[in-house]
Amino acid sequence: MGVGIIGIGTVVPPRVLTNYDLEKMVDTSDEWITIRTGIKERHIADSNVNPSDLGAEAALRALKMAKVEPEEVDLIIVTSASLEMIFPSMAAVIQNKIGAKNAGGFDLLSACTGFVSSLITGAQFIRSGDVRTVLVIGTEVLSRFVDWEDRNTCVLFGDGAGAVVLREVGDGYGLISWDLKLDGSGADLLAIPGGCAKNPCSEEVLKNKLHYIKMNGREVFKFSVRVLGETTEESLKKAGLTPADLDWLIPHQANIRIIEAGAERLGIPIDKVAINIHKYGNTSTASIPLALEELVLEGKIKDGDVLALVGFGAGLSWGSAVLRWKNIES
Ligand code: COA
Repeated sequence: MGVGIIGIGTVVPPRVLTNYDLEKMVDTSDEWITIRTGIKERHIADSNVNPSDLGAEAALRALKMAKVEPEEVDLIIVTSASLEMIFPSMAAVIQNKIGAKNAGGFDLLSACTGFVSSLITGAQFIRSGDVRTVLVIGTEVLSRFVDWEDRNTCVLFGDGAGAVVLREVGDGYGLISWDLKLDGSGADLLAIPGGCAKNPCSEEVLKNKLHYIKMNGREVFKFSVRVLGETTEESLKKAGLTPADLDWLIPHQANIRIIEAGAERLGIPIDKVAINIHKYGNTSTASIPLALEELVLEGKIKDGDVLALVGFGAGLSWGSAVLRWKNIES
């Protein structure tokens, strides 16, 4: 059974934080950030806006495009690297906000790989025949987990949300193949170590800023370049395809240099790669839908195009999903 995307919606908070704004906050420059990351600006949520607010808005937009009512949603999968609370799940909070009164659901956590993992998971539920309509939502207010005094990390991240509606789309279309991998030996390379069971909230945690993102940028960079190529090739191989068959590579938007190096290793020309990191920074689970939606709305993706969605990040975790695109009827 072909299971694919029948609607997509995204949202970013209106407030923009530019590199020039960051120059006033930490010892950095627009030139450094632009050259090393490709980021020019990012959107930051106001203090009264939570990840579930952005996620619900993105979900409603995706449902509208899909012409699906909230009551028709069977399952909600929410993925995030900036949890609203440990429990209840964000799936429950968003279910209530959008009025999806017949839906079940859960949160699926896999940091920046979360959108790919959730898309693959949602598709399996539909393939099993048990459900018809799945809503997958990636939503982030990462700005609450950023140490705004740490120039190594604060220039990278931004807030936003993206959602897709999944349904049967016809034979030969939709999810063709996928690959998901973990390497927990690299868990310390990128983490928010404090505030949960291992390092519960305490004065010590606050003093050492363990409730903020901690990252070994160089190691994460090398890892990301390697796995971007590896997982894309693995998924393509499972589909009996090669990188030359790809119409669009839609990678997690972490750093322009990671994206360019990954595409080069795969031999994919840069004009077949979705890039919008300059506008949003790294929005973790929201970055792939934000990049995909832009291509869809610009009419760049044609019916039958082969897409690879590629995620990578903390865990370490990484993965990819190859889809044959079915045009969304307007
Ligand atoms: N502005 C100015 N200088 C900065 C800076 C900033 N915002 N951040 C770091 N620097 C400095 C460093 O302190 C270092 O100075 P030093 O040589 O005097 O020690 C110098 O720039 C080079 O640092 P380095 O870490 O080698 O830079 P880099 O080229 O590796 O770029 C990252 C740093 C963080 C941009 C890059 O490593 C990266 O993108 N890593 C992956 C991060 C990521 O994508 N994480 C999420 C994955 S989902």
